[in-house]
Amino acid sequence: MGTSRTGAAGATSRIHVSRTGRSASAPRTGLKAPLSVLQPLPLNEILLGDCIANLEKLPPESVDVVFADPPYNLQLEQALTRPDQSLVDAVDDDWDKFASFADYDAFTRAWLLAVRRVMKKNATLWVIGSYHNIFRVGTALQDLNFWVLNDIVWRKANPMPNFRGRRFTNAHETMIWASKSAEAKNYTFHYEALKAANEDVQMRSDWFIPICTGEERLKDGAGRKVHPTQKPEALLARVLLSSSNPGDVVLDPFFGSGTTGAVAKKLGRNFIGLERDPTYAKAARARIDAVVPLSDASIAAPPEKRAEVRVPFLSLIESGHVAAGETLVDERRRFQATVRADGSLALGAIIGSIHKIGALTQGLPACNGWTFWHVERKGKLVSIDEFRAKVRATLTA
Ligand SMILES: C[S@@+](CC[C@H](N)C(=O)[O-])C[C@H]1O[C@@H](n2cnc3c(N)ncnc32)[C@H](O)[C@@H]1O
Repeated sequence: MGTSRTGAAGATSRIHVSRTGRSASAPRTGLKAPLSVLQPLPLNEILLGDCIANLEKLPPESVDVVFADPPYNLQLEQALTRPDQSLVDAVDDDWDKFASFADYDAFTRAWLLAVRRVMKKNATLWVIGSYHNIFRVGTALQDLNFWVLNDIVWRKANPMPNFRGRRFTNAHETMIWASKSAEAKNYTFHYEALKAANEDVQMRSDWFIPICTGEERLKDGAGRKVHPTQKPEALLARVLLSSSNPGDVVLDPFFGSGTTGAVAKKLGRNFIGLERDPTYAKAARARIDAVVPLSDASIAAPPEKRAEVRVPFLSLIESGHVAAGETLVDERRRFQATVRADGSLALGAIIGSIHKIGALTQGLPACNGWTFWHVERKGKLVSIDEFRAKVRATLTA
């Protein structure tokens, strides 16, 4: 315990624990001598050793997204017991122990800087943590000029109870999602796909996902957990589906049981895993080797709205989906406007686009007319966006 981790401490052997996945690079296996720059990238490999030392060997601007689950610095003063005095299987491992907050902060800044160097210009970084460490990590991120895009609350469907009853049940962890700087605007975010996956409602920043249990939880021969903080694959899947594309390089500097690698492989992404503990690295390698990737069709990057064929509202009239003279209403029938033959809308004497009239009726500066306006069909309201999709399908068929 208490070893100083303020830098690239510890010996760093480069162990390529055999490779799987979709890398185009030559296969690597076995032990190799440390190189100053690993070229080509060690795709779909786990590098054993201190993450900072290994990060320094990766080429600059080489990864698309980073998922980091660093030590929590739990500072457990004594073994955690239940009221019946049975021992709680808590995180009391050496890798989670730091001599002081200052020590932890120095370590955090060192790995964040090392990660930043290998991130491509538009790459993003996810860091997960609990109240023990996430505020310190957040401060470091902002001090180092990263730009926070969101903090996501992972609400655990089945949290561990608070055994002593002296505090609220700790039922969530926080993920900070950040870009390299405020100027990095073209980062990957599959807004439309996430919305479609969420019953056409914008995906929110609170995610309700169970902790990792059952079949998914890695166990050793004696039935003990292989890793104390194995994250659920569903969490990583949402992270990677939202912020990366098939073929991207996903880096995890605190690889543990390899959840990031397993999900990356399943979703057709490449990974680079860094882990200091050989037992975890070995378990992660076996786990990932057993993963069967999903079909290309099921993981293809979703088309972004911007890339889709533009459909003018007039096309809905021309194709007979909406009639000139018909009334459009909003979802709650509070506002209405009349469709004109030229594809504009009339609101009394005011004439304008579906967007402009939608905004005007509500007294708002802007409005997406496609999702705002509806027509009545067989007693039910239908969004004109549905007709747009039908017209678009005929244009792209
Ligand atoms: C919170 S766990 C990550 C768990 C992982 N996300 C999973 O799903 O299994 C942190 C991991 O980082 C590793 N670790 C801690 N300090 C490290 C360092 N300096 N370099 C490399 N790995 C480190 C630990 O051994 C541990 O496995």
